[in-house]
Amino acid sequence: MRILGIDTSCDDTSASVIEGSSTILSNIVSSQTEIHKKYGGIVPELASRMHMDMISHVVNEALIQAKTELRHIDAIAVCKGPGLIGSLLVGCGFAKSLGYAAGIPLVGVNHLEGHIFAPFLESEPEFPFVSLIASGGHTSLYLINGFGDYEELGRTRDDAAGEAYDKIAKMLGLSYPGGPVIDRMAADGDPKAVSFPRAYLPDSFDFSFSGLKTAVRRELQAIAPDGDITKIPSDILNNIAASFQAAVVDVLVRKVEWAIVKKGIRRIVLTGGVSANSELRKRMQKMADEQNAKLWLPSIRLCTDNAAMIAAAGYHHFVAGDIAGLDLNPKAYLPL
Ligand code: KG4
Ligand code: ZN
Repeated sequence: MRILGIDTSCDDTSASVIEGSSTILSNIVSSQTEIHKKYGGIVPELASRMHMDMISHVVNEALIQAKTELRHIDAIAVCKGPGLIGSLLVGCGFAKSLGYAAGIPLVGVNHLEGHIFAPFLESEPEFPFVSLIASGGHTSLYLINGFGDYEELGRTRDDAAGEAYDKIAKMLGLSYPGGPVIDRMAADGDPKAVSFPRAYLPDSFDFSFSGLKTAVRRELQAIAPDGDITKIPSDILNNIAASFQAAVVDVLVRKVEWAIVKKGIRRIVLTGGVSANSELRKRMQKMADEQNAKLWLPSIRLCTDNAAMIAAAGYHHFVAGDIAGLDLNPKAYLPL
């Protein structure tokens, strides 16, 4: 069985063909980073237009790389939200037209469910497990009991972890997306140089990163009162990056630790763009070892947005007979 996955939820146009539940035949991701970089963040209108320009080429390329043709595709799995509505509409509109014209069944997939199933494309996590989804749009903790059986333990009350990285990067005069750049700078900085706040929110699995963001802004104002960050020496910027990252990682690791201890489940799956963070991966592994827990860390290309993860979750919907009609409409806000 072959599933064609399509994801246009944010700023990447992606299409993938998988065979069975987990063999990736192709996974094309066309990034719009270069376009959005000059604005310091994603411009939704530009994202939709770029998806329009790219979608048919990307889907075609996914079929070519998979050495297959549309007539050998059993289902089209498309991301139906959450995400930027203009971007989602492009993917859903394309998938519906293609499915209708070629007579291929359509499956709608929640983007978060895609992230949860990304690790299954290269390993076999055992249920139940605690899943941390940390991306640019979400930071949530779930208890995953099996396919379709998800319990949300907590979520961010304000910014997502990736959003915090992107906003701090902007304050530091760095390019978008901020995560990878701060990750690199932090490697040369001292994580104890500045003591930034950690919002542990006791008795809750929720997250909050807005206080940390304000603390970084205040620190920068204190160092450069005229707002000219170009005057700040690079070693001080590296220290701020490392101290900010330490605060984010401390909270993410501690919350996952609380969750596995409270639920008595020693299995963890990390996913979403922030899971690409080198310090988070290292620290989560250390905590998992100390707690005698098993940790599944997807490779970087499966942490960030990609259509193979949509196809992987779509496979389960398809075999369960959960087929979407032509009335499938994406939603910007779509809880799992
Ligand atoms: O999952 P993703 O590709 O898209 C969303 O669904 O949001 O995540 C993108 C986010 C961005 O905020 C980006 O800055 C962050 O993931 N990110 C990282 C790293 N690589 C990407 N954050 C921290 N460290 C990284 N190495
Ligand atoms: Zn995502």
